[in-house]
Amino acid sequence: MGGLAAFGRLIGAGWALARNDVLLPRELESLYSPGALAASRALRLFAGVQARQGRPGERLARTLERQGPVAIKLGQLLSTRADIFGVEFAEDLARLKDRLAPFPTEIARQQVEITLGRPLDSVFALFGEPVAAASLAQAHEATLTDGRKVAVKVLRPGIERRVAQDAEVLALGAKIVERLSSASRRLEPQALAATVIRATELELDLRLEAAGGDELGEVMARDGHMRAPKIIWDGVGKRVLTLEWAMGEPLSSPAALDLPGLDRKALANNLIRAFLAQALDHGVFHADLHEGNLFVAAPAEVTAVDFGIVGRLSAAERRYLAEILWGFIQRDYHKVAITHFEAGYVPRTHSVEAFAQALRAVGEPLFGRTVADVSMSRVLIQLFEITALFDMRLQPQLVLLQKTMMTVEGVARRIDPDHDIWAAADPVVRGWMLRELSPAARAKRFADEGLAALRNLARLVENPPGPTVVAVTEAESDSNFRWFAIGAAVSGLTFLAAAILF
Ligand SMILES: Nc1ncnc2c1ncn2[C@@H]1O[C@H](COP(=O)(O)OP(=O)(O)O)[C@@H](O)[C@H]1O
Ligand SMILES: [Mg+2]
Repeated sequence: MGGLAAFGRLIGAGWALARNDVLLPRELESLYSPGALAASRALRLFAGVQARQGRPGERLARTLERQGPVAIKLGQLLSTRADIFGVEFAEDLARLKDRLAPFPTEIARQQVEITLGRPLDSVFALFGEPVAAASLAQAHEATLTDGRKVAVKVLRPGIERRVAQDAEVLALGAKIVERLSSASRRLEPQALAATVIRATELELDLRLEAAGGDELGEVMARDGHMRAPKIIWDGVGKRVLTLEWAMGEPLSSPAALDLPGLDRKALANNLIRAFLAQALDHGVFHADLHEGNLFVAAPAEVTAVDFGIVGRLSAAERRYLAEILWGFIQRDYHKVAITHFEAGYVPRTHSVEAFAQALRAVGEPLFGRTVADVSMSRVLIQLFEITALFDMRLQPQLVLLQKTMMTVEGVARRIDPDHDIWAAADPVVRGWMLRELSPAARAKRFADEGLAALRNLARLVENPPGPTVVAVTEAESDSNFRWFAIGAAVSGLTFLAAAILF
């Protein structure tokens, strides 16, 4: 695709964004400078009826869904940045659905034969219709020659070319935004675009997903909280992934929670423990644990599918998490601050004392609180918000952990509305902290009293104690949103100017 064609498609994307009023959304008018306000009103002349439906995050999700696989990946990545855009926007964006019309089964059969290099019936006794279709691939129901029921994921024909074209458009857009808007630079548009493109490209090789499923299956088997269907390596190639059919009912189906003999409490516990054990004990976790990828069976079996996104926490990151949690429990903010500096997360140009003071603002209000339910993921968000003030480079894997935690907590609450995340997490978190903490910290007997404090600590964010914490948080995400909006506005105007000129 020539540069001109890419430019043309970029204008198309800008137009779609303007139609949905997501470039300078009206909801944020109170934050705009006079120039941005005028631009926002001008852009709204192009807005369609769809611009009146839903919050900005929902409208952006809807727009990106229609722009193809790379835009969808961009949306998924932005949805992990609740620290920048605020929790509501991130959650709306996280609901982005990736469902398309399937391509014909005949084409899928051909793709399988070409990829595996042998006749279809040498592997499959039956090869059925698609059960789900997304922008990159679709899944079919099939039976192996030995009679086992399997799912076969097949890439869309020609998807590589489509992704390459979209990648060019996104890279161009990022370059323009970065050139024109200094305010957008904190988001590092070009680096973000490169990450999005890379993540999409990796999903174009299903052998990698097969390997991810295989590795996670092994890790899950060690703890027994969750399973993964077995990978059928005879049916795996770059464009094809074959795995055993998942046991049970998809959790996304309304019937799933009414299965006879289902123990909802145990099921929610299994889900939380499975995720935490993967991340904290083994350092590798399924990072896409939404209802559509989970199957349940009585009494409390959970099976996960879809291994496109695998999160990894290094030993250093796991230790860091343990140390900061322990520091908060001890209310030793100086120690927590030093841990951040030593890990190289906060630039040395900042003052340890000022950082410790900011951490105190997160930690102190949490103590002595008694609130029924607790959100672990929000503890992390709160921390990210503070660290952003100190130019802490967010570790992508920690962000992925936080996002997955948010998803898993939501699913656990829907399974069991009275679910106590901290009671579920207790055995896993206890073992992990004992293992990871330095001997000095360990020496200060922490087990019961420490975990009780940890629980109180976590109660912090779900029900923030006073107006101060909330105010800081909202102001922070508002101001973040403002420079995002300014960046978006400049790019939007560029698209429009270009559209008029060409
Ligand atoms: N092993 C399996 N057993 C049963 N159904 C499956 C299996 N793998 C995938 N599916 C079905 O196909 C859908 C899409 O597969 P998935 O791997 O989640 O792809 P995508 O990346 O498009 O979400 C799943 O949501 C599920 O309904
Ligand atoms: Mg899926």
